[in-house]
Amino acid sequence: MDANMDLSSLPKEKWLGDDYLVQLEGFWLLPQFVKPIKRVINHYNPLPSDVMLVTFPKTGTTWLKSLLYSILNRSSKHKLVAEHPHELVPFLEIQVFAEVDEPPVLAAPSNGPRLFATHIPYQLMAKTLDSSQCKVVYLTRNPKDTLVSLWHFVNKWNKENPNQSWSLDDATDKFCRGVSLYGPYYDHVIGYKELSLKRPENVMFVTFEEMLEDPHNYVKKLGDFLGCPFEEGDEVDEIVKNCSIEVLSSHDVNKSEESPAWFSLPYNSFFRKGKIGDYKNYLSDECVKRIDILTKDKFHSLGFMY
Ligand code: A3P
Repeated sequence: MDANMDLSSLPKEKWLGDDYLVQLEGFWLLPQFVKPIKRVINHYNPLPSDVMLVTFPKTGTTWLKSLLYSILNRSSKHKLVAEHPHELVPFLEIQVFAEVDEPPVLAAPSNGPRLFATHIPYQLMAKTLDSSQCKVVYLTRNPKDTLVSLWHFVNKWNKENPNQSWSLDDATDKFCRGVSLYGPYYDHVIGYKELSLKRPENVMFVTFEEMLEDPHNYVKKLGDFLGCPFEEGDEVDEIVKNCSIEVLSSHDVNKSEESPAWFSLPYNSFFRKGKIGDYKNYLSDECVKRIDILTKDKFHSLGFMY
């Protein structure tokens, strides 16, 4: 991918206020992330032992970061108390490659695997992932809750500027047209769903809903998938509890109103309700219908969910 591509040559769509998104190979991105994403694509060579969490924004990334960190490092409660999940598990394009061409050599905890996260769609990462034996965990969430979560998050972003408050109708319209951070959501999910069907030993596809309904079972499944299975009596329940939204959001580091150096929203903005079906409290029948029709159309052929 041409690292020096001129941003002005990319298709553009209005996002919020004066901000716009640009379209790179079919996916909509904030312009400031285009270069770092290209750096990841051009320079990140995953080690076979690397573990990568991939998500579409607002599908539960923060939760899965804390769970995967705990599964790989076991007795990690003190780390979760002291550090925000986004600092424990950095995003490739937002943190690791934000400024540098080469990824820093990240000290692997106790010589275990390196754990990264990214929102980059498979369609852009295919070369990197197809040539690697690294493990990928892809998390998705039902589109209506994802949209509502995004809408809350973006309005927090806009809090400084009340004139820019974002209507749910506009949010729904943009989401359905795919004009969303790393969108279209559907293409993002389908890319990794198909990859997981093709390479199940390398790619595990999970949903926020199934994980929330049976976290104990899924933590064990993730342990098996990552090659570090739990034994009878191991601390699965403790990990589930330590990573629950109630416990995680009670730590000072996660309650903090401070923003990280790499993002403009405070650390506490990644925790809200963490429930299934909150969209019912917000979306009009019309919006629900529009999304449901689209979801059926997009996901039907894959024979799966939502
Ligand atoms: P809601 O806005 O629906 O509450 P991301 O981490 O990808 O940005 O996703 C954020 C969503 O995950 C938010 O959803 C947030 O509340 C929820 N979340 C954060 N931590 C969680 C946890 N430990 N368990 C369940 N959901 C969590």
